[in-house]
Amino acid sequence: MIFASVADFRARAKRRLPKFAFDYMDGGAGHEAGLRRNVEAFDRIELKPRMLVNVEKRDLSTTLFGRTWNAPFGTAPIGLGNLVWPRAEESIARACIAANLPYSLSTPASTTLEEIAAIAPGNAWFQLYVGRAEEMVTDLVTRAERAGYDVMLVTVDVPIAPLRHRDIKNRFSVPFRVTPRLLYELATHPQWSLATLAAGRPRFANMERYATVTRYQTVTQYMSSQVTGRFDWDDLKRLRDCWPRKLVVKGLLAADDAVRARGLGCDGVVVSNHGGRQLSSLPASIDALPEIRAAVGPKFSLLLDSGVRSGEHIVKALAAGADFVLIGRAMMYAVAALGAAGPKAAIDLLTDEASRCLAQIGIVDIPTLKAAAPIIRGESR
Ligand SMILES: Cc1cc2nc3c(=O)[nH]c(=O)nc-3n(C[C@H](O)[C@H](O)[C@H](O)COP(=O)(O)O)c2cc1C
Repeated sequence: MIFASVADFRARAKRRLPKFAFDYMDGGAGHEAGLRRNVEAFDRIELKPRMLVNVEKRDLSTTLFGRTWNAPFGTAPIGLGNLVWPRAEESIARACIAANLPYSLSTPASTTLEEIAAIAPGNAWFQLYVGRAEEMVTDLVTRAERAGYDVMLVTVDVPIAPLRHRDIKNRFSVPFRVTPRLLYELATHPQWSLATLAAGRPRFANMERYATVTRYQTVTQYMSSQVTGRFDWDDLKRLRDCWPRKLVVKGLLAADDAVRARGLGCDGVVVSNHGGRQLSSLPASIDALPEIRAAVGPKFSLLLDSGVRSGEHIVKALAAGADFVLIGRAMMYAVAALGAAGPKAAIDLLTDEASRCLAQIGIVDIPTLKAAAPIIRGESR
């Protein structure tokens, strides 16, 4: 199969994965209007082309948080990445090291933060969820500092667990609930099932040490019990005070919130609606971005995710005011489609598309793109 686009990765992923695993990765909250809106909002934006510019040599390198990366994107944190494909987290981290891009490891990942720090020293960022158990949060922060993480993303857009219709209908849970339907799905997707069997079932590797697992409470139930809606601005301030390195707030959509995060001394914000996975009625992050950029000023670091499916989308995000982009599902589709070869394929595709897009609009590097902000229309709702 030829992979001309992220949509091709997705199509192959859909065939290779059992339905419950594909739906976990692909699905969104509610009736998924937010999920669709994220991509549609990008596609509505048009770029202004300038011709007769020598674009033979183009440079995508971008400086963020004191480091120069080969391109203006990295990967978004994904919980249970190894459920999508065995050793997905490790293979994405390795591809990011090779491509000099940042890799974000999620708190509910299936590889420990210490293992990823050893694989991708300097390239790995750690994403923190602040749950109810303070000793767990304190320990995770200490472990991340000790392991050498320079950047921590604290995700704030999961006040409570979302309602994802696909997961509800699939009775999605970890460990899997063995039902005739599950056995049928495993039998009809042998590549995934055998690879998963060989690698061992995906676990919440960072968190299971804190969980009280009993006959009556699984790790998943312990984790759900942590999502209580308690985390607030005072907690964020405490986290800022105890984490000495870069702290980035992930999951803001309101300009006032971004200004407040900057006021607390946070180093950046990820403008994100969690890929449409929390609530169907949220604005697309690309639509929320211009107002946030205007409010925080030109110097504050703004990253963006949600709905990025091509290099052109990356260029549009930067033209609309982002400094950097995080790639969520687009990377996971590629891993599901191609296994360990997927991350490099996704990085190469997105980089090539972004570079060609710059050439088509007469721009040779990222600083020029951001200064020119070549959007014709479609940036506002
Ligand atoms: C399967 C899956 C799991 C995710 N798990 C996490 C997580 O553990 N922590 C987090 O901050 N965001 C998580 N996200 C959200 C992503 O980090 C990111 O915000 C989102 O995927 C961006 O949207 P996109 O998938 O349309 O690119 C997850 C997203 C997906 C698709």
